[in-house]
Amino acid sequence: AFVVGENCINCKHTSCVEVCPVNCFYEGPNFLVINPDECIDCEECVPACPIGAIYSEDDLPEDQEHFLDINAELSDIWPQITEVKEALPDADKWDGIEGKLNYLER
Ligand code: SF4
Ligand code: F3S
Repeated sequence: AFVVGENCINCKHTSCVEVCPVNCFYEGPNFLVINPDECIDCEECVPACPIGAIYSEDDLPEDQEHFLDINAELSDIWPQITEVKEALPDADKWDGIEGKLNYLER
């Protein structure tokens, strides 16, 4: 499966959702996740994210391996999102900031 990683937090551009052929993105307040059981590994969402936040689970950076569980857990709880909306207001400012997991809202 593909996994939304840390850089999405507080950015949430949402351009990933409209390219997903199986609509397997789920939305929280400041982050999106992929349901790993529904993802068909098509890779379409990877180039769709302007800040490179999405990885194949096989290519997840070592310090982001916990995002596999986070995606699985939260995609069970959060509502589905299928339509693009505006990015969060400070998306540009948050791109590339480290330690964003501390800011994840559930
Ligand atoms: Fe959707 Fe394809 Fe991305 Fe999986 S890899 S989340 S199926 S767009
Ligand atoms: Fe997040 Fe990138 Fe999608 S910032 S919402 S993974 S387009």
